[in-house]
Amino acid sequence: MIFMSQHTFLYGVATSSYQIEGAVREDGRGPSIWDTFCRVPGNILDGSSGEIACDHYHRYPEDIQLMKELGVQAYRFSIAWPRILPEGRGEINPQGLDFYERLTDALLAQGILPFATLYHWDLPQALPEGWLARDTALAFADYASIVARRLGDRIPFFATLNEPWVSAFVGHLHGEHAPGLRDLPAALKAAHHLLLAHGLALQALRSETRAQLGIVLNLTSAYPNASRPEDHTAAERVDRYLNGWFLDPLLKGRYPELFDELPPVQERDFELIQAPLDFLGVNYYQRALVTAGPGFLGARFWPGRDEVTQMNWEVSPGGLLDLLLRLQHETGGKLPIYITENGAAYYDELDQDQVQDPGRIRYLARHLAALEEARARGVPVRGYFVWSFLDNFEWAYGYTRRFGLVYVDYPTQRRIPKSSFFWYQSYIAQHREDRPSQTIHEDPV
Ligand code: FCB
Repeated sequence: MIFMSQHTFLYGVATSSYQIEGAVREDGRGPSIWDTFCRVPGNILDGSSGEIACDHYHRYPEDIQLMKELGVQAYRFSIAWPRILPEGRGEINPQGLDFYERLTDALLAQGILPFATLYHWDLPQALPEGWLARDTALAFADYASIVARRLGDRIPFFATLNEPWVSAFVGHLHGEHAPGLRDLPAALKAAHHLLLAHGLALQALRSETRAQLGIVLNLTSAYPNASRPEDHTAAERVDRYLNGWFLDPLLKGRYPELFDELPPVQERDFELIQAPLDFLGVNYYQRALVTAGPGFLGARFWPGRDEVTQMNWEVSPGGLLDLLLRLQHETGGKLPIYITENGAAYYDELDQDQVQDPGRIRYLARHLAALEEARARGVPVRGYFVWSFLDNFEWAYGYTRRFGLVYVDYPTQRRIPKSSFFWYQSYIAQHREDRPSQTIHEDPV
């Protein structure tokens, strides 16, 4: 059991299974909704898929060596549900569990703490109706206990879901992610079943492991981009949509008032959904600037005023600081927060075996400074994970967006650390906080 740690703050890197593993038909893995979605022409910008990705399934020892060189204290990865249960439920595929056991043990052998996400969007295709079925939440809880029974003695952190907002709304309302629907009632159903899945899994995990348990949300700060009262109201609506839709059920046991359609809530659902967390994972990339306008939510989105990344996302570290201060307030200041993703895509190019990415260094430095400021003001931030360790399959953008600290030359699968890798390496060396015998096991709040 490794529930003691030397660290009060963890510097890490993050990835997810479908984006890096490849090996989609290997060792008994079943198909996921992303394998299916990628086959539809037009869904993925460059027509690609995660079929090979970074071939991490075979190259994980080499990748862990690089993490060791980087000096990270923790690695956030996700476990592919269809590797463990190819049909989503029922028969367990032992080779799937074996892979994550090899990965976990290899990390621990290098002194890197495994931080596992149980669901980063690769839902088993075999589950009828996916997240539209309430039953999928029950299947998820079973899957969570299967993983915890095997690895719960060695993995000190489990996040149930990654960005359920994206699964629900980008997948079922905006149609840009699997399963590609454009239907608000479907999105609200999916959102509720995802929250229920989280609640049921949390309960199941508590009886199998003493690990820290939490959820990862993509959150952003929404600001009015003009001073009319209707612009403020529009920003509030956007806030309820982007942040409140998941934060409120988890923290307050109710949905914000926003849509005429209602989610399919059953008695006692909120009791499960609202169960105490050990940590909140926050993925932060940019802020939202809005004014009142026609269309969805009665809001119009504006480009930012600071520099933008290749995704056209404004670099807005101030939005991270505001968000952390707000979360401190909303959670009573005691709930540990991990920045589970933060990073940027730039037009990186391999030149004489090197990749210079000063934009990414600036992005990371500015966000780390905002995080330090939040900590100085008392926000209990306990860790920071750069998205991403490797360039990888960036969902609907395929391989056209590179977020890695490590450049991946896809034709040869060669890994080339970028200049941001060496920058983060020295940042960690200078800032790591090692205090003897600090326990990472905290009481749920
Ligand atoms: C987040 C996802 C992650 C990655 C980054 C850029 O929304 O969690 O998988 O795609 O965005």
